[in-house]
Amino acid sequence: MALQENISLRPYNTFGVDARARYFFSVTTPQRLMPAVEEAPGGSPLFVLGGGSNVLFTRDFEGLVLKNDIIGQVVIEDGPDMVRVRAGGGEDWHAFVKWCLQHRFYGLENLSLIPGTVGAAPVQNIGAYGVEVGERIEAVEAIDLESGESCCFPAGACDFAYRSSMFKHRCRNRFFITAVTFRLDRTARLVTSYADVRQALADRPAAAVTPQELSETICAIRRRKLPDPKEVANAGSFFKNPIVTRARYRELADRFPGLPAYPVDDQQVKIAAGWMIDHCGWKGRRVGACGVYPRQALVLVNYGGATGGDILALAEAVQASVAKVFDIRLEPEPLIL
Ligand code: EPU
Repeated sequence: MALQENISLRPYNTFGVDARARYFFSVTTPQRLMPAVEEAPGGSPLFVLGGGSNVLFTRDFEGLVLKNDIIGQVVIEDGPDMVRVRAGGGEDWHAFVKWCLQHRFYGLENLSLIPGTVGAAPVQNIGAYGVEVGERIEAVEAIDLESGESCCFPAGACDFAYRSSMFKHRCRNRFFITAVTFRLDRTARLVTSYADVRQALADRPAAAVTPQELSETICAIRRRKLPDPKEVANAGSFFKNPIVTRARYRELADRFPGLPAYPVDDQQVKIAAGWMIDHCGWKGRRVGACGVYPRQALVLVNYGGATGGDILALAEAVQASVAKVFDIRLEPEPLIL
C-alpha cells in the first residue's frame, strides 16, 4: 500500500500554503481506503482532502491526509423528465458540471466554475447565484472512517443548510465521501433571479436563454469578480454571509444605508459580508504577501509566499474591524487546520 511520508501540501491547496503532511495517500478506489488508514500509526489524525479549495493549513498536519481521487460518472436512471447520475467523490466539480451540460442533464448550471471536487460539494453545500447543491443531491455514499463501514445517506439525512451539512459539523472528519448521486432535469428550469445574472442577461428574452448560455454567463461573472486560483492563490469567499433577524437587519440598514441582504426565511436575512469588509476599507489592501482581493472583499488572497498563519492573522484583523463597526462576528468559511 505504502503511504507517502513528509509530503508538501502546497500543490494540494488552492491557497498555495506550504504545510507538510506526515503521511499522505491518494485513494483511487473505495477498497484502498481502509487498508491505508490501518497502515498509519495508531491514533494518527485523519484528514480527507478533495481539491483543497476550502481549507487553510496553518501548520503541518501530523497525521494521514487521504486525498480523494475516486473518479468516474455514470447514469443510473434515465427517465423522460429526470435522470439520476452518480459521480465519484474525486471528480473535478466543474468538469462534472460540463459533462452534465453536454449530456443535456440540467440543474447545476449556476454552480459552474466552482473549484473543488464532487465529494466536497455536499460537505459545505456549495452554492452560487441562487442554487445550492443540496437541492440536486439525492444521496451521498461514504465510508465511515471509524468503523470502515460503507453507508449511504439520503439528502434528507445530510442536514443541508447555507454552506453547511452534517459532514461539515456534526460528523466532521468522520466520513470519506466515495460517490454522490444527483437528480437532474431533462428540461431546464433556469434560475436567473440573482442580481448579477439578471443584469448580465438583461437584453435577452428569458425564454431564449439556454442552459449552456447561463453556464457561460455564470463563468463570465465569476471570472470578473473572483480570482482564478491558478493565477492568484485563494479559497473563494473566506467568510460566510452572516444570518441575522429581520429586526437586526433593519437596525443595521438604518445606520448603514445600502447594506445588501437576501431573504433566508420569514424571520431571517443573510447580509453581505463582502459589503461590510469593503465598507471597513479592506478591499484591495495588502499585508505582506497576502491581502484582500481588489475586486471582491470577501476573498483573501496569497500573492506568493504567505504562510497559513499570515492569512489567518489577516482574517482576524478583518474580523476585528467588522466587529468594531457593525458589532457582527464574521465566521470563516474554509476549514482552518
Ligand atoms: N459587495 C460589495 N463589495 C465587495 C463585495 C461585495 O459591495 O467587495 C456587495 C455586492 O455589490 C453585492 C453584495 O455585496 O451587492 C453581494 O456580493 P456578491 O453578489 O458578489 O456575493 P457574495 O455575497 O459576496 C456569495 C457567495 C459566493 C457566490 C456568490 C454568488 C458566500 C460566502 N459567498 O458571495 O460564493 O459565488 O454569493 O452567489 O455565500 C464561495 O463560497 O467561495 C463563493 C465565492
